[in-house]
Amino acid sequence: MKKNTKVTLSVDDLKVGMRVVGLDRNWLATSLLSHRFMVKTAKDIEKLRQNGIRHVIVEVDKTNSETLAEDPKNREIPENPDPFSNFPAVEIGEICLRSIKEIKVLQDRTVTALKTSFEQARLGKAIPTKELRRQVEETIGILLANPHAISLLAVIHENDDETYVHSANTMLLTTGYAIRQKIPKDQWISWGIAALLHDMGKTQIPAEILRKPGRLDAREWEIMRTHPLLGYGILRKNPEPEVRNLAAKVAVEHHERENGTGYPYGLGLDKVHPVSRALMVLDIYEALTADRVYRAGLAPQKAIQYLLEGGRDKVDPSIARELSLMVGIYPLGTFIEVEGGDIGIILDYSDRANHRGEAKVLVMLSPERKPLRLPRIVTLPEMAPGTIWKTYHHRDLDLSLGQVESLIKKIFKPT
Ligand SMILES: [Fe+2]
Repeated sequence: MKKNTKVTLSVDDLKVGMRVVGLDRNWLATSLLSHRFMVKTAKDIEKLRQNGIRHVIVEVDKTNSETLAEDPKNREIPENPDPFSNFPAVEIGEICLRSIKEIKVLQDRTVTALKTSFEQARLGKAIPTKELRRQVEETIGILLANPHAISLLAVIHENDDETYVHSANTMLLTTGYAIRQKIPKDQWISWGIAALLHDMGKTQIPAEILRKPGRLDAREWEIMRTHPLLGYGILRKNPEPEVRNLAAKVAVEHHERENGTGYPYGLGLDKVHPVSRALMVLDIYEALTADRVYRAGLAPQKAIQYLLEGGRDKVDPSIARELSLMVGIYPLGTFIEVEGGDIGIILDYSDRANHRGEAKVLVMLSPERKPLRLPRIVTLPEMAPGTIWKTYHHRDLDLSLGQVESLIKKIFKPT
């Protein structure tokens, strides 16, 4: 079985085709777009030297590290903003697996960092942001190396209802959105930190209200609705300027809505900061698609439809449209019923950048939900939002995330 390992190399020993996953300095202080990338040409190596980088961490195939660099597939990757544009759907399957793992690790680490920060806030102490910043940097690196990772977020939604997981996922969506919108690179981290801290005020809400399994009554709602202002109060005291300014502003504004229908001030959408305007859409999407104690998460296409139609929550429809392209109306990893009742998993789209167009589906379960002896890849025509497709989350099929991973792995890597 192929195993990846990480080795530190001098830039002089770096070769075209190698995958760089770390640098000997913070990549944000360099002119590089990411600290994770495939070396496509000698120019990439030269760029590292120009930035004063002497060593890099390279991910290599443990069993065959030499041939990695010689693989013509790696050598011939053209300049393209989409790192996977040349890969067939089958290889995208492997990339999906890797991304699921990367996002899960990232989510776990971010949750740990957030728990520490929120705990400090509960104790009335200044919140440490160093680790949060590191996680946002890590996220940006993953998203630049694989813009499709974000579409797989829905796959890793398991039974979690915590503010921490919600904030970590919202950060992933927010940084992804900032990158897609071509927001200047030096602002990505502030966007990510603002997303991580937007619900900081919830540290001051009694646990019985926060975790109530069901609808809040009027009095409880009133208390809950104080969290934007409470968050603002905490974040304004932070010594870091980006927390004290942008994150505090976003915390107080993220429940404002169109025509002043939100709270706490009833400002219109035109009166709030662009980060707040984006975050409110991503925040609602994340909350709707997550499981709660009292209900299962909505399917992504239903959550997107709700946001596009304006629903009860009046948000900016142009951001909802952009979200639908970023994650896909039917995200990668969605299980879908195909002709004959078999069930497959969406691995790829003809318009990869926007997760739409014809879909490549790996059909691997029978109508009885048993693994097929001969799995196959089928192409489905473009799935417009109004089209009826029977889709499932893996938990609807009684499959754990681990089982999904091993099903895909078995098909791509028969032993
Ligand atoms: Fe909130």
